[in-house]
Amino acid sequence: MSDPVKIGIIGCGKISGIYLKNAPYFQHVRLTACADVDLERARSVAEEAGLQAMSVEDLLASEVDIVLNLTPPEFHFEINRRILEAGKHAYCEKPLAINLEDGEATVALAKEKNLHVCCAPDTVLGAGITTARRAIDEGWIGEPVGGSAFMLSHGPEGWHPNPGFYYQPGGGPLFDMGPYYLTTLVHLLGPVRRVQAVAHRMDKVRIATSANLFGKKLPVDVETSYCGSLAFAAGALVTANFSFDVWGHRHAPIEIYGREGSLGVPDPNTFRGPVGLYRPEDRNDRQWKDLPLQTPYIDNSRFLGVADLAAAILEGRTPRANGDIALHVLEVMCAYLTSSTSGRAVDIASQPERPARMPTGRPFGMM
Ligand SMILES: NC(=O)c1ccc[n+]([C@@H]2O[C@H](COP(=O)([O-])OP(=O)(O)OC[C@H]3O[C@@H](n4cnc5c(N)ncnc54)[C@H](O)[C@@H]3O)[C@@H](O)[C@H]2O)c1
Repeated sequence: MSDPVKIGIIGCGKISGIYLKNAPYFQHVRLTACADVDLERARSVAEEAGLQAMSVEDLLASEVDIVLNLTPPEFHFEINRRILEAGKHAYCEKPLAINLEDGEATVALAKEKNLHVCCAPDTVLGAGITTARRAIDEGWIGEPVGGSAFMLSHGPEGWHPNPGFYYQPGGGPLFDMGPYYLTTLVHLLGPVRRVQAVAHRMDKVRIATSANLFGKKLPVDVETSYCGSLAFAAGALVTANFSFDVWGHRHAPIEIYGREGSLGVPDPNTFRGPVGLYRPEDRNDRQWKDLPLQTPYIDNSRFLGVADLAAAILEGRTPRANGDIALHVLEVMCAYLTSSTSGRAVDIASQPERPARMPTGRPFGMM
C-alpha cells in the first residue's frame, strides 16, 4: 500500500469539526496540520485533534499533498490560489468562488499547474443521492422529464456563531445552499443548459439570535429569495427555489419526474435517505416505496469528497467533486443573478461530464 496522502486544513471554524472527526476513518489519508488567521484557534483545534498548528504560510510550505480550504466564501478564491501556487491540490468548501470570473481563474490555474481543485458538497457522494442516481441510471423512472427542488428556510442567524457572511456576496440561500441542490441535480440529470430566474431581498438587515451574537444587526447585501427554472441539456425541466425568508413548508427537497415513474430525493444537505420511488403500477394503493440505500455513507460523512480526491490522486483518475462540476454550478448560480436583473433567460456555456457514480458494496472508509 502507498504512503497515506497528507492533508492540511486552512480555516479551523465551525465546519472543521466534522472533517476532523471523519478523516481517521480513511486509511489512505493522514491529516497532519492546521492553520487559521486566528492562531489561537488553530492551536486549540490542533491540540484536540493531534495535529500541528502552523501559520498559513508554513502550512503551504509544508509537505502536505492536499489543503482543505474551510474559510468563509469571500476568502475561497485567494486561499485556493495560494494553495495551487504552492503546488498542492485544493479541496474547498462551497461555493468555489463568489463570482464566475474568480471560479474560472481557479479552475484554469489548477489545470495549468496539473493539480486538482475540488469543491464541496460531497453529500452528493452519500448513500441517499448515490441511491437516487442509481435508480435513474438504471431506468427505474424512465427518461427524466421534470423535477423540483426547494430549499426554503429562515436563514442561519439563529444557530451559527458567526452568521454575518451568510448575508454577504457568496452567501444568501443561493450561494450557501444552492450548491447542495444544484450539484445533486447535475449528478442526477447532467448539466444545465439554460436558466430563467427572479429574486428579491425581503429585509436590508437581519437580527442574529444565536447565543453569542444575540441582537446583533447583520447587513443584508444579497437577495434572500430566488425562484428559478432550469432547462437541462438532456431535456428535463426543473423548478429550483431557494429562500431564507420562509418559516415552514411541506415541499419535498427534490423530486424527479420520469416517463415511467417519480423519484423522491432526500435532503441534499445530508448523506442519508429516504429515496422514494413511485411507479404507475403502484397507483392502486398510492404508495411510494423506499429504496434500500446503496452505500454505508448515511450519517454526516463530510470528508468523503476529500477521501475520493486522495484516492483519485493515488489512482490517477478524475475526482468526483471536481472543479469542472463546481464551476458549472457556480455558472448556474451566477445565471440566477443575471437572469433576475436582466429579465432574460441565460444560456450556460460549461457542459461538464457527470462524475462517475460512487461504487456500491464497499465497506465504510474503503474507496
Ligand atoms: N457551518 C456549517 O454548518 C457549514 C456547513 C457546510 C459548509 N460550510 C462552509 O464552510 C466554510 C466555513 O464555514 P464555517 O461555518 O466553518 O465558518 P467559521 O466562520 O466558523 O470559520 C471560518 C474560519 O476561517 C478562518 N479564516 C477566515 N479567513 C481566513 C484566512 N484568510 N486565512 C485563514 N483562515 C481564515 C476564521 O478565522 C475561522 O476560524 C464556508 O464556506 C461555509 O459555507 C459551513
